[in-house]
Amino acid sequence: KRLILIGPPGSGKGTQSPIIKDEYCLCHLATGDMLRAAVAAKTPLGIKAKETMEKGELVSDDLVVGIIDEAMKKPSCQKGFILDGFPRTVAQAEKLDEMLEKQKTKIDKVLDFAIDDSILEERITGRWIHASSGRTYHTKFAPPKVHGVDDVTGEPLMQRKDDTAEVLKSRLEAFHRQTEPVIDYYKKKGVVAKLHAENPPKEVTVEVQEVLSS
Ligand code: AP5
Ligand code: ZN
Ligand code: ZN
Repeated sequence: KRLILIGPPGSGKGTQSPIIKDEYCLCHLATGDMLRAAVAAKTPLGIKAKETMEKGELVSDDLVVGIIDEAMKKPSCQKGFILDGFPRTVAQAEKLDEMLEKQKTKIDKVLDFAIDDSILEERITGRWIHASSGRTYHTKFAPPKVHGVDDVTGEPLMQRKDDTAEVLKSRLEAFHRQTEPVIDYYKKKGVVAKLHAENPPKEVTVEVQEVLSS
């Protein structure tokens, strides 16, 4: 399967991705995770993206299209993939269509993580992540066994620099202005499934499974 996950910051894309990934043996391509890794490693790409990401704005289409084009060539992505956080502008969606046409494939489903903005601040400001694995926790909704420590590796957890109430405002603005039109773009193709992303994580997982098995 070839899937796209679209939703505002904190809507649960990164939380559901590993579950879908394991169940369907897909590769998980998250542009945000890839960009954060580039920033941490201080690569030329990371140096370009850092400031924009910290402001909660979108990095340039060319930068992310380049990363995705490269990543989709991996053998593990040939059978299927989950795109998490890409495409985020109509221009990115058009580029993606071109790439897929070359491979004679197309997107099977777009999962729309629909949720009210008002719920997102609490989700974002309570999030803790294990940087190397991408595992996500929440102080209230999904606490680790030991505060500040990853359940699996015992390594310390960290918070994202853009996970403040202040930066969330610009991230939400970018979502409504630049990313919602992408949902309409795929609605015209008839591949969008709308989820109730405000529900508890397990219920969202069940909804995703229903969509993918139908
Ligand atoms: P990115 O990393 O993609 O961030 P985002 O879209 O803002 O999404 P998040 O990762 O914040 O949300 P999520 O839906 O994954 O939430 P999660 O599941 O973790 O992008 C970051 C930046 O990179 C962008 O601002 C931009 O600068 C740049 N960028 C990336 N891609 C780009 C692109 N294509 N073009 C241009 N720029 C790009 O959940 C959040 C919290 O809530 C967690 O703590 C979790 O435990 C909890 N939670 C999850 N689900 C539930 C639930 N159902 N109930 C209760 N709590 C829940
Ligand atoms: Zn995420
Ligand atoms: Zn909107």
